[in-house]
Amino acid sequence: MILHINGREIEAADSAGDRHLLDFIRHDLDLTGAKNACGIGVCSACVVLLDGEPVKACVKKVRDAVGHEILTIEGMAGEDGALHPLQQAFIDSGAIQCGFCIPGMVLSAHAFLTKNSSPTRDQIRRAISPNLCRCTGYQQIIDAVETAAPSYSKTTDGLCGSVGSAPSAACQANP
Ligand code: FES
Ligand code: FES
Repeated sequence: MILHINGREIEAADSAGDRHLLDFIRHDLDLTGAKNACGIGVCSACVVLLDGEPVKACVKKVRDAVGHEILTIEGMAGEDGALHPLQQAFIDSGAIQCGFCIPGMVLSAHAFLTKNSSPTRDQIRRAISPNLCRCTGYQQIIDAVETAAPSYSKTTDGLCGSVGSAPSAACQANP
């Protein structure tokens, strides 16, 4: 069974098909950004993107990912390690407290901004509403998403990213 995760081909044993995707990516691939909090599909701490859409990896099976592109938080930075503008905005806005919800929050916001690069604060609030933050730092999280939004507008090359800066691999994968 072949999976496509963060632009890489990953071979998984057929016997892994019935395991939860979250368990597989955390324990077999050491991609520990996605977190296991509720484990029952309620909190979105485990969100990864499947073909650009947020999915809760704690309730998805590995076999559900076959034939799709999976993006985890580890795939957001550029190949040179430079943070994605959205990740940088979370830091700059003071949006990270304990950090537990942040990978899922960033990926949900990334999926949203890819479709809407000039959202209202209310639209941002609704887009991230499935993602629960127990530190309740929602205002700064909304600030971060709002700050990063312009970096998702199309440049003249048809690529997303801040004008004048190289778009990250993740951004190019989700134009
Ligand atoms: S850990 Fe998956 S939704 Fe809570
Ligand atoms: S920053 Fe702690 S749960 Fe959100």
